[in-house]
Amino acid sequence: MTHTNTPRKYVIANWKMHGDLAHNQALLDRYVSQLSDLKGTQVVVCVPYPYLAQAQAKLQGTGIAWGAQNLAKNEDGPFTGEVSAQMLCDFGSQYVILGHSERATAYCESDENIAQKFMVAKKHGITPILCVGETLIEREAGVMELKVGKQLDAIIDLYGVEVFQNTIVSYEPIWAIGTGLAATPDQAKAMHLFIKGKLMQVNATHENSVKILYGGSVNPQNALQLFMVEHIDGGLVGKCSLNAQEFEGICQAAESCQE
Ligand code: 13P
Repeated sequence: MTHTNTPRKYVIANWKMHGDLAHNQALLDRYVSQLSDLKGTQVVVCVPYPYLAQAQAKLQGTGIAWGAQNLAKNEDGPFTGEVSAQMLCDFGSQYVILGHSERATAYCESDENIAQKFMVAKKHGITPILCVGETLIEREAGVMELKVGKQLDAIIDLYGVEVFQNTIVSYEPIWAIGTGLAATPDQAKAMHLFIKGKLMQVNATHENSVKILYGGSVNPQNALQLFMVEHIDGGLVGKCSLNAQEFEGICQAAESCQE
């Protein structure tokens, strides 16, 4: 998937480990009726693996895309419990969240593992949504750029900066996830500028093809203020993506701050 005719903003739902068939059905129905016709915003829903078929059945042909929250770094083989990129493709997934801090901490995912997964996703034409971000301790120590830089370097050192073409990076300060305490627009702007600076080492076209989202307690009240910030190309939304009305509010904010 490329970003030709690229939308100006992305709003991506990360359902995490929430939902069931009936709840998803109702939520996706609302997404489809309210969000299919946005002009400048690409809406994406990243669902738990078992619901990929449901997402595909509901969203195919609607303009809303879907994807997963992880994939295996191996192509196939004896890896009990893993799900491969090809399996995601079988269910029409165009996106995959990688390196989310909830996985990195709970399942000890190393930056190198995440880098490998990033390449596997690209190889299969799935757009990776790479999550990066610092802990509160790291922010208070003033080493947030070092931390995020190291996460990006894990990929750049192995595969070169060009692999970020047509990908998405989401800045998710760990202290802002699920806490109700979003980064301020100024904090987000500074980090987005830093990320952009690191990734635009190639050329301007490359710069435009990398989207940098913000994630961490995005809600309908703060979305517009965050999305108006230069270099913030949209949001990765956890809790508020489970509530149709709140998610719509966030998507409308993205839509209304288009030039
Ligand atoms: P919340 O929106 O619930 O803070 O979660 C953010 C997140 O983790 C998105 O990936």
